[in-house]
Amino acid sequence: MLMGRMNMRTIITLLVILVVEGCYWERGVSTTVTYDHKALVIDGKRRILQSGSIHYPRATPDLWPGIISKAKEGGLDVIESYVFWNYHEPVRGQYYFEGRFDLVRFVKTVHEAGLYVHLRIGPYACAEWNYGGFPVWLHFIPGIKFRTSNELFKREMKRFLKKVVNLMKDENLFASQGGPIILAQVENEYGNVEDAYGVGGKLYVKWAAETAVSLNTTVPWVMCAQKDAPDPIINTCNGFYCDGFTPNSPSKPAMWTENYPGWFLAFGYPIPYRPVEDIAFAVARFFEKGGTFQNYYMYFGGTNFGRTAGGPLIATSYDYDAPLDEYGFIRQPKWGHLRDLHIAIKHCEDYLVEADPSRVSLGMNLEAHVYYKTSNDCAAFLANYDSKVDANVTFKGISYFLPAWSVSILPDCKNVVFNTAKVVSQKTLDDVSFVRNTITRKSSLASSAWDWYKERVGIWGSNSFTASGLLEQINTTKDASDFLWYTTSVNVDEKIERHHKNVVVLSIASLGHAALVFVNKRPVGFGYGNHDDASFVLKKKISLNPGNNTLDVLSMIVGLQNYGPWFDIQGAGVNSVVLSGLKNAKENLSSKRWNYQVGLEGESLGLYKVNLQNSSLWKKGNALPTNQSLIWYKGTFLAPDGKGPVSVDLSSMGKGQAWVNGRSIGRYWPAYHSPSTGCTDNCDYRGSYNARKCLKKCGQPTQTLYHIPRHWLHAGENILVLHEEIGGDPSKISLVTRTGQEICASLSEADLPPSDTWNPKVGFSSEVPQVRLTCDQGWHIASIRFASFGTPEGDCGAYMQGSCHANVTSIYQQACVGKQQCSVPVFAANLGDPCPGVLKRVAVQALCSV
Ligand SMILES: *[C@@H]1O[C@H](CO)[C@@H](O)[C@H](O)[C@H]1NC(C)=O
Ligand SMILES: *[C@@H]1O[C@H](CO)[C@@H](O)[C@H](O)[C@H]1NC(C)=O
Ligand SMILES: *[C@@H]1O[C@H](CO)[C@@H](O)[C@H](O)[C@H]1NC(C)=O
Ligand SMILES: *[C@@H]1O[C@H](CO)[C@@H](O)[C@H](O)[C@H]1NC(C)=O
Ligand SMILES: *[C@@H]1O[C@H](CO)[C@@H](O)[C@H](O)[C@H]1NC(C)=O
Ligand SMILES: *[C@@H]1O[C@H](CO)[C@@H](O)[C@H](O)[C@H]1NC(C)=O
Ligand SMILES: *[C@@H]1O[C@H](CO)[C@@H](O)[C@H](O)[C@H]1NC(C)=O
Ligand SMILES: *[C@@H]1O[C@H](CO)[C@@H](O)[C@H](O)[C@H]1NC(C)=O
Repeated sequence: MLMGRMNMRTIITLLVILVVEGCYWERGVSTTVTYDHKALVIDGKRRILQSGSIHYPRATPDLWPGIISKAKEGGLDVIESYVFWNYHEPVRGQYYFEGRFDLVRFVKTVHEAGLYVHLRIGPYACAEWNYGGFPVWLHFIPGIKFRTSNELFKREMKRFLKKVVNLMKDENLFASQGGPIILAQVENEYGNVEDAYGVGGKLYVKWAAETAVSLNTTVPWVMCAQKDAPDPIINTCNGFYCDGFTPNSPSKPAMWTENYPGWFLAFGYPIPYRPVEDIAFAVARFFEKGGTFQNYYMYFGGTNFGRTAGGPLIATSYDYDAPLDEYGFIRQPKWGHLRDLHIAIKHCEDYLVEADPSRVSLGMNLEAHVYYKTSNDCAAFLANYDSKVDANVTFKGISYFLPAWSVSILPDCKNVVFNTAKVVSQKTLDDVSFVRNTITRKSSLASSAWDWYKERVGIWGSNSFTASGLLEQINTTKDASDFLWYTTSVNVDEKIERHHKNVVVLSIASLGHAALVFVNKRPVGFGYGNHDDASFVLKKKISLNPGNNTLDVLSMIVGLQNYGPWFDIQGAGVNSVVLSGLKNAKENLSSKRWNYQVGLEGESLGLYKVNLQNSSLWKKGNALPTNQSLIWYKGTFLAPDGKGPVSVDLSSMGKGQAWVNGRSIGRYWPAYHSPSTGCTDNCDYRGSYNARKCLKKCGQPTQTLYHIPRHWLHAGENILVLHEEIGGDPSKISLVTRTGQEICASLSEADLPPSDTWNPKVGFSSEVPQVRLTCDQGWHIASIRFASFGTPEGDCGAYMQGSCHANVTSIYQQACVGKQQCSVPVFAANLGDPCPGVLKRVAVQALCSV
């Protein structure tokens, strides 16, 4: 029974009665924020806070309110975001705070939802964001050195910090001004790389702290992953687990700024995911052992539109397996299970802030932490941190069942309201990457005709230039484009080489990230690196003609590096070109004179722009060229019905970039498949998680679906332009929209408490447990696909009736069809008893649609 006390009836009712209690402050009223050794102190009260990262430019502003409100409903108190310097100041001194980069609007949107903001100003962001958020122009200030005690860098950093702080102050957005910002961050994870900067690094940390404090934000500052953060800056923990974390001073609270619900995606890699039982375990352990602030990085990951993705090779989707998916849909059971957890922790808040916990050993790898208000008034966390063995423990004279790698939460030291391994939240089958007929609609582009433009190979414009030796790419392009042409010619002496077949080996080495190689204007090879090592060597047998031959190498960046010591000067591009096997030609071409051209001809023409839609540059005709490198395609389509997000399936394409109505939806690279091994669909949540532990989609394209924000579409014809680099077939491109979702809920009699349900004010009350079904916003329950009370088998998507079965479909049909959400009490009197004396459960699967 013990497990019985931690039960779903309890939790489900919690959700009904105790939905997280709205605003904690009145808007516009000045709030003081300080901290002590336990917690952030808001208006004199210590607080337990749940936070989640939502990066404003990774969604469109029209989506912000919906995402934020789902975050609030999920039990968050705080929204965290970095600030993205490179997009806010694209040219030194010219600021941009509009559209997706309207920071003030974003902070105000969070404010309107009644949540707090943690603003991580940095200005270094990392964030799998291009160049970690630094503007590339910063690199070209002579004598500058990033993230160390360099006057030039410090001057620029301080200027931007001040700019952002003043912008927030001018809009009254700090808590003391009545705004939502309760916390700010300077720098980011510098402690991970500090050693590489020597003494300069130490001085820089001190300077960054002093500079931040001098800006007088009136809210506490944090430095994450920074053991030596000077007072009064709070050093915070980032990691998959932070329950072992202790701040660097007894006057600072334990705060966790990055808790990863999954991991980021890189082209050529499988998709990482993290089971929610493990995330809940990590969070519960943190609060169990004295933590008071926790942030999911990411709560909503979103999309790396345009060329915002960092590198090397960060993918366009930044889904992160977050509680809200790339499109802003609720991901179940992750979102729901964490919401249940937040509610359970919230019930303990008064105890958690009161005192430090007392540890009680309950056996091997078993322990309790108890928070006392008085000697007989307490809240407790019972933990089994063994990665394999389930256990029964006795705590205060009562026996409790604790599954391996789980924590039970007892807000009154007696009744379990939540166990991290017991997921009772509704589930969904509708991962948008599973294209199911019932919940997604696939449509081909209305346009039967594609126009195209074949890109010129090699030097195309008058702004080309020559230099001796191979130039570093970022220094040369200044990130104005992903592309740099390296071109030269190779002369083969006809007399000397006459008797040879002229087959030689061309060997090209690059710092990264990818390169297309052409000999005599014909493609001969494509080389590329990966996220962990972007460098590569491409070796190809080629044949040369007697006389003059051209060699054109198109080197490509796939997101500027965003992490690591001195990441800003790692460099990219071709760094060695050697020919072997020729008698008279120079073997090592690296130091000869090369011709250079930054960018592509099509970029310079602006082929992605709407105003060139009808230009005669675009070729038309029946013979659509496919499987061609360096070609632009243009097609039109009508916006799919509905209001929800749209994605475009580019699995027939190779590598490139796509634009809709002139806006870039990001880089695509479905031709880069992940390795065929290392994946598992049933990852064991028990035991320590790492980013490689749970992977899916091995041997497949990393990303085939690309998000087109609904807001970027309009009535009538929309234009899709693709720049294909290595070869694809645009005629197979289709649009995908989500038209619904399949949801499941299951409740077992065994999980019901003896009689009552938990309510923090009155303890247990006698509510009847309910099966609740909720459709994501905009949808309603259209049909009940399965409903059995008895001993149904299988899991969501594959339920089957068991030996004991009452068909309760019609009861659910009556209660639910046509509604956005419904609940049906679970008890035999209500559902009929098909097999008295047998432990029964209800399993329901429903279809939500428009
Ligand atoms: C900091 O700001 C607060 C509120 O705006 C102001 O009252 C205080 O005088 C400022 N402190 C300093 C040192 O500038
Ligand atoms: C815990 O106790 C229950 C009830 O006595 C028993 O059925 C179960 O096997 C025990 N589990 C473990 C892991 O000891
Ligand atoms: C080879 O051809 C290139 C491009 O057409 C030209 O620039 C170069 O001068 C030629 N070299 C020789 C040796 O003819
Ligand atoms: C880029 O240029 C700067 C200044 O000219 C130089 O110091 C630096 O080493 C170059 N970077 C790379 C990666 O070659
Ligand atoms: C070719 O020359 C470059 C630059 O002179 C040098 O760095 C590289 O090591 C040489 N490669 C080989 C294979 O000799
Ligand atoms: C291109 O032509 C179409 C069809 O005639 C027209 O609707 C559209 O406005 C034109 N676009 C531009 C940018 O001129
Ligand atoms: C595409 O072209 C390459 C050579 O350029 C060839 O090896 C490949 O088989 C072609 N693929 C298809 C699908 O036609
Ligand atoms: C259950 O009941 C529904 C509606 O009454 C019916 O359509 C369905 O076929 C029944 N299913 C089974 C397995 O008997």
